[in-house]
Amino acid sequence: MSHRVLTGITTTGTLHLGNYVGAIRPAVAASRAPGVESFFFMADFHALIKCDEPDRIARSSRAIAATWVAAGLDTERVTLYRQSDIPEIPELTWLLTCVTAKGQMNRAHAYKAAVDAATAAGEEPDAHVTMGLFSYPVLMAADILMFNAHRVPVGKDQVQHIEMTRDIAQRFNHLFGQGRELFVLPEAVVDAEMELLPGLDGRKMSKSYDNVIPLFEGGSAALKEAIARIVTDSKLPGEPKDPEGQALVTIYDAFATPAQRAAFRAALRAGLGWGEAKQQLVALIEGQIGPMRARYEALMAHPEELEAILQDGATKARAIAVPFLKTLRAAVGLRPYTDTAQTAAAKAEKTALPVFKQYREADGKFYFKLLSAGGDLLLQSTGFDQGRDAGQWVARLKRDGLAALTVDAPVQREAAEADIAAALAALQAA
Ligand code: TRP
Repeated sequence: MSHRVLTGITTTGTLHLGNYVGAIRPAVAASRAPGVESFFFMADFHALIKCDEPDRIARSSRAIAATWVAAGLDTERVTLYRQSDIPEIPELTWLLTCVTAKGQMNRAHAYKAAVDAATAAGEEPDAHVTMGLFSYPVLMAADILMFNAHRVPVGKDQVQHIEMTRDIAQRFNHLFGQGRELFVLPEAVVDAEMELLPGLDGRKMSKSYDNVIPLFEGGSAALKEAIARIVTDSKLPGEPKDPEGQALVTIYDAFATPAQRAAFRAALRAGLGWGEAKQQLVALIEGQIGPMRARYEALMAHPEELEAILQDGATKARAIAVPFLKTLRAAVGLRPYTDTAQTAAAKAEKTALPVFKQYREADGKFYFKLLSAGGDLLLQSTGFDQGRDAGQWVARLKRDGLAALTVDAPVQREAAEADIAAALAALQAA
């Protein structure tokens, strides 16, 4: 199997430049590498946990899907889907929930943050905690394990969830794998450089700091307007400037070649004004984002095209999820009754013992034979006049094993000695 990479984006808003640089752009690039099978999805079940505005969730899902496609994701090559189009995911969530320790969920950062906030406000610790929030990491584990992803590119804040996924997977494998690795243990991939794209005020670009530069939303006007608000020092045009530590320069770097980076720094040191520098930044970003934005707007204007892409993605995803869930259901014991019978029969065959059979032939004599568990003839006696004599030989062979099989024993060896010895030993042990 090729290497599988999977990541999801929660559909509660639109994307900003930090999401593009940190998640979308590297994911699109990685999805083109040979030997990689990529899965990208709109985590809309996750969105329900944080958001009770249906229209916002619907619009966000559409905008994020359009963003992936506009950013160059080749949907022929990768699998792009909505989490909520894959009913196997919530079903797997339940199987995983049943092996997940509550104590481990108590330690999840998002849950603990909610408890701390409530406690600080003098409320009940769980005042604002839904079961959705509490179980968030299990749903995320199902997202990842459903497709046995090897690598999961995520932000730093999500690393704990990947560790929990590994624990859950390990436990499930141990309980139900019967020596098989049902689930691959995934690795988190955190790109440290990309995590650091600063926002307008120099802190990490994030909705919660209200310092974001929108990716497509609002068109080039919104991009210009946001860049104009990037905080700089108050040096005037003509004054030499120190480029290091400037959010403007770090954002520039994220879109520039090494040569452009060097030239931009040199120009600032030589006195380039901040206003002029911002215009250069707008031009640089617009050159890359502008053509994508046109595609984005077309997709937003034609939801049927996007919907068809997502339906295709769901079909591809379910071609994996449906049979895999069937295996998992069987592993935990959710089986058609007919399968249960088969399994019992298979078990019986495995644990079956060799057997001595005593019988009387048409010649009036008494005989016995030893058959292997699989029914192969191992030993065949000669005929006895008395049934009791045959019985005594059987008892002696059962008791003494191969040692009873002396040269003068009235028994014919019909198989290799090792097989006969193993059969007799099995009977002695039983
Ligand atoms: N929890 C992730 C976030 O908020 C989104 C997400 C949901 C995800 N399921 C996932 C990411 C599975 C990677 C893999 O960023």
